Amino acid sequence: MAQKGHGRVTDREYRARRLIHARRADVEPFIAMDVLSAARKLEAQGRSIVHMEIGEPSFPAPQAARDAAAEALKGGLIGYTEALGLPALRSRIARHYRDVYGLDISPARIAVTTGSSGGFLLAFLTLFNPGDRVGIASPGYPPYRTFLTALGLEPVEIDLDAESRWALDADAIEKTHSKTPLAGLLIASPANPTGTIITPEALKGLCATCDALGIRLVSDEIYHGLTYGAEAETALRFDGRAVVVNSFSKYWCMTGWRIGWLVVPEELERPVERLAQNLFISAPKLSQVAAIAALDAKEELENVRAVYARNRARLLNELPKAGMDSFLPADGAFYLYADVGRFTNDSVAFARAMLEEGGVAATPGLDFDRGNGNRFLRFSFAGSESESVEAISRIANWLSRR
Ligand SMILES: Cc1ncc(COP(=O)(O)O)c(C=O)c1O
Repeated sequence: MAQKGHGRVTDREYRARRLIHARRADVEPFIAMDVLSAARKLEAQGRSIVHMEIGEPSFPAPQAARDAAAEALKGGLIGYTEALGLPALRSRIARHYRDVYGLDISPARIAVTTGSSGGFLLAFLTLFNPGDRVGIASPGYPPYRTFLTALGLEPVEIDLDAESRWALDADAIEKTHSKTPLAGLLIASPANPTGTIITPEALKGLCATCDALGIRLVSDEIYHGLTYGAEAETALRFDGRAVVVNSFSKYWCMTGWRIGWLVVPEELERPVERLAQNLFISAPKLSQVAAIAALDAKEELENVRAVYARNRARLLNELPKAGMDSFLPADGAFYLYADVGRFTNDSVAFARAMLEEGGVAATPGLDFDRGNGNRFLRFSFAGSESESVEAISRIANWLSRR
């Protein structure tokens, strides 16, 4: 058998080696997806389950987006686009920054990506070298850790608590950086799983601190638009060199279309373009065409947001009556992060019991926080109003029987 690596290996050793995956693939499972598959199994046995585990809008993409895609399909050829996206979409996204934030962003700084997930890959590859440390909040969106470790970067978790509204601030960054110097910081506002918005003042402070310490800021703004009081501010207001990650998945209800974007500083336009050309060639054209139309569908999408707002209000009012009363009100996104410490010290077992006995699926906090997540559950309220009514009644019923 052929010579492999530095030494001679037998056929058997070679076959054994080929069965071993790279360390990079040794990532943790996304527990929310495991809960979903357990819920689906119960449904296949005829059980009725209310889904509050997955962070996905229960509404379709706006009608105008679906019409635009249907029209494009009639035209036949759906080919590649420019690596950074259709010029019309990049211009329309630039206009979105003018309309929503009053900011003048050149379309050249917009890179259209395959969801924000594709955006993270491009951003991290462009900004960081192997071994670099990147600060992330804990609790936080689980794939942040995974992306970083899979790329040979080191996630540095910054522990947050309910007392500080689960919000990152400049102090926490300075403290972390003085112990473990960071090359980058990834923030999300509104955040998953807590729904917390970083106030404009705190965001300004964070941006100034990152600038002073030479830390590259990446801001995940995927839940912008989904707010229930004050709007979320973009990091671009305070830091023109921040990299912003966004997506059509949440506000625009287009998860399966896999379409998102980055805003990068001018000096990164070409490096991002080179990587995008090689890694993706382009984002899906059909989705880009649909996204242009989606950006004009404000009225329809505001109606969707109103449903989430009513679901949120219902949970805030009714869950405490059912006995689950320890959570912050969620400034944005569509999640409640509830402390269930008075019931359990094992959120995975608690979620399993709630699913099997109560018929409600929620995600154990361990997905988002390996330290304290054993006391928390995340409830998504992106479902329909009738689902949220049913969920509350089932939870109340189940808790009263425990
Ligand atoms: C905070 C956050 N960022 C990014 C994503 C990924 O979204 P997508 O790749 O669909 O744009 C999600 C999905 O749940 C999320 O919650």
